[in-house]
Amino acid sequence: EKGGYEHFMLKEIHEQPRAYRDTMLGRIDHANHQAVLPELKLSNEQIKNIRNIQIVACGTAYNAGLIGRTVIEQFARIPVENDVASEYRYRSPIITPETLVIVVSQSGETADTLAALREAQANGAHVLAITNVVGSSIARDADDVLVTLAGPEIAVASTKAYTSQLIAFYLFGLHLAQVRGTMTKEEVAHVLAAMEALPEQVEAMLGQADTIKSYAEQIAKHKHLFFIGRGQDYAVVQEGSLKLKEISYIHSEAYAAGELKHGTLALIEDGVPVISLLTQEAVMEKTLSNIKEVKARGAEVLAISYEEHAAELLKSVDHVITIPKTLPILTAALSVVTLQLLAYYASLALGHDVDKPRNLAKSVTVE
Ligand code: M6R
Repeated sequence: EKGGYEHFMLKEIHEQPRAYRDTMLGRIDHANHQAVLPELKLSNEQIKNIRNIQIVACGTAYNAGLIGRTVIEQFARIPVENDVASEYRYRSPIITPETLVIVVSQSGETADTLAALREAQANGAHVLAITNVVGSSIARDADDVLVTLAGPEIAVASTKAYTSQLIAFYLFGLHLAQVRGTMTKEEVAHVLAAMEALPEQVEAMLGQADTIKSYAEQIAKHKHLFFIGRGQDYAVVQEGSLKLKEISYIHSEAYAAGELKHGTLALIEDGVPVISLLTQEAVMEKTLSNIKEVKARGAEVLAISYEEHAAELLKSVDHVITIPKTLPILTAALSVVTLQLLAYYASLALGHDVDKPRNLAKSVTVE
């Protein structure tokens, strides 16, 4: 049932190209260069009236929501907030009939996320669920459902569910933009073409996992490390850090690169690994200055970036791992795969139970 793979997690990482394709299937109108989501009950009238969006979820689904925010804000120019589901109800969120609440849950059974959904509905919001399980409690209760087609996810550490959630956010973001007129037809077509190239790009990455494996074996010797990034890269490293902690038990923190000098730099000493993600070319120079700050304090730095920057980066960092290039707004769908493999191989090197990490359950049905 593991299809020849040693662990479900590795199998599920490898299923991602298929999951991307399935989640896009039938949702792209090639003739008209449009994203189409006929299953949505949310009318165009309602979409035009949305004033704010709240994305609520737990764990990895929360991290997918962080990307969802960057996507929706850029494509549709609607303000988005992210909430951890266990916090949402208790902060008296400001919900109006023009608020769209998006709950994200692989299992559709997470107790906190379900409670947040009910809170939002009780306050009059329309709730859209992005979930991987059609018959789940969250799918049943939501006003609208956008199904991810990742297929059953068995490993406790979520991989293909996260990336399928990203695809769902891209499609939904485009749909909002089409209805609200915030993107031209050409811009939408450009994004769709880049999305359709993602599965093959992931396949290429999976074929080159050896460099990641040997780097993972090095970090497995450390007790703690840092991840840094800016913009969308900051959101992705939060997921990378969660994944690494969850299955390798190596302590890590993900920081916005510019935030290090506000305290965290004190923890950087000789040999501490710092993993920096640099896919956002507009802020690359800024992140590079932050890398120099940690290098000056003895950090051992890995940069994950594009081939074209590798030679230049190697002047400042110790290791480089490259990823294929896509649009800045879509990079998470590629860069996260490197971080998933890093966590997987670190856990493997340490001899942990990759698929069933200690203290954790696949579906958390208590609040
Ligand atoms: O089923 P859900 O997406 O609602 O689960 C939410 C989290 O419990 C889940 O993503 C958890 O963080 C993962 N084990 C992380 O890999």
